[in-house]
Amino acid sequence: MKAMRVGLIGLGTVGRGTLEVLRRNRTEIERRAGRPIEVVRVAVRNVARAQAIVGSDVAVSADPFDVVRDDSIGIVAELMGGTELARELVLEAIRGGKHVVTANKALLALHGNEIFAAAEQAGVMVAFEPAVAGGIPIIKALREGLTANRIEWVAGIVNGTTNFILSEMRERGAGFDEVLAQAQALGYAEADPSFDVDGVDAAHKATILAAIAFGMPVRFDAAHVEGISRLQPADIRYAERLGYRIKLLAIARRREDAVELRVHPTLIPARRLLASVEGPMNAVMVMGDAVGTTLYYGKGAGAEPTASSVIADLVDVTRLHTADPEHRVPHLAFQPSALDDLKVLPIDAVLTSFYLRLRVADQPGVLAEIARILAEAHISIDALFQREPVEGETQTEIILLTHETIEGNMNRALVRIEALPTVLEPAIRLRLEQLAD
Ligand code: HSE
Repeated sequence: MKAMRVGLIGLGTVGRGTLEVLRRNRTEIERRAGRPIEVVRVAVRNVARAQAIVGSDVAVSADPFDVVRDDSIGIVAELMGGTELARELVLEAIRGGKHVVTANKALLALHGNEIFAAAEQAGVMVAFEPAVAGGIPIIKALREGLTANRIEWVAGIVNGTTNFILSEMRERGAGFDEVLAQAQALGYAEADPSFDVDGVDAAHKATILAAIAFGMPVRFDAAHVEGISRLQPADIRYAERLGYRIKLLAIARRREDAVELRVHPTLIPARRLLASVEGPMNAVMVMGDAVGTTLYYGKGAGAEPTASSVIADLVDVTRLHTADPEHRVPHLAFQPSALDDLKVLPIDAVLTSFYLRLRVADQPGVLAEIARILAEAHISIDALFQREPVEGETQTEIILLTHETIEGNMNRALVRIEALPTVLEPAIRLRLEQLAD
């Protein structure tokens, strides 16, 4: 049978991995897809270097528009990254009737609504398994495997760089800056490491997960995003003592007529499988009303793990491209006409538990005052301890965990607590999620 002809834009780590796996597993892939899948054209800046990698039977151009305008191509795989040029290329490919596979989470988080609308109009598919959690087939699981469920929440470790940093900080007691330098030396961090450490990369992925979990448009603009750069080793230690680990969690949770969409360092119980996800690994936990909690684990980045997802999409598109567009899996899992423009709650309205660390004067009544303010705010304390006394010190630290409350309520209570003369520094405040069934 005639091969499905693919054009690759970008020949970085993922592009090269895709070529390698397509070639190595050619027979297996053809047996699954029903026809060969062949890369016939590549666009990349350094043409001579690329030609040496891809061989003489693949055309190489410096101009990525050569790929999207090549009418012999059936699928454009956008593996270049960036948002503005990538948007133009993807839209032009769609208008030209080509299917698209993209690993570009930023592109979809920012321009997904426009891109999916254009694809629906043109009757083509835009597949994006590699955009979230690298090699883990989480898009497939959410869009298809869990299709019977009302999804209640999704909580994921979807950025390997920050997970590596947090693991090293916990295991070695090292500070953030030192471990970031190590992560960069190992090549984990994005080109702009602030995308990783400030939580932006995880928020792009959370935005996509929320859209397909709840059937809503992508709303990156409404996501609450916090990174890990201010996290202190002391809090990682105290959390551990209380039976928790700190992870940069991407959370999408359904609330009544609204959703929470947030990324921030989060305490999670050490006994949850998700807490054992260490180093650059990724994992996503999904709670569906019928299935309960499910967990998806694997490599979230890297040449061949990401290629695994790119090729899964190439095979899907190859199998389905002759199907009537109405009988394909909808881009955002729900029929476009059935998408719900759900409100994203502002962070002040989010319901969560808290970890608090308070530096206080070591004198009678301090704890009672703090407990009184929390009680008046209807915030229930779940656990509490005071740091061991240090000889000659007149200050100490109180660490406490609370039950769930609305974040705005906690903030108002903290203003009162921080105004106490015995509370000596602004509180350290982290969110905590139980992730229970
Ligand atoms: N920088 C990302 C990470 C790569 O650390 O997970 C995969 O998107």
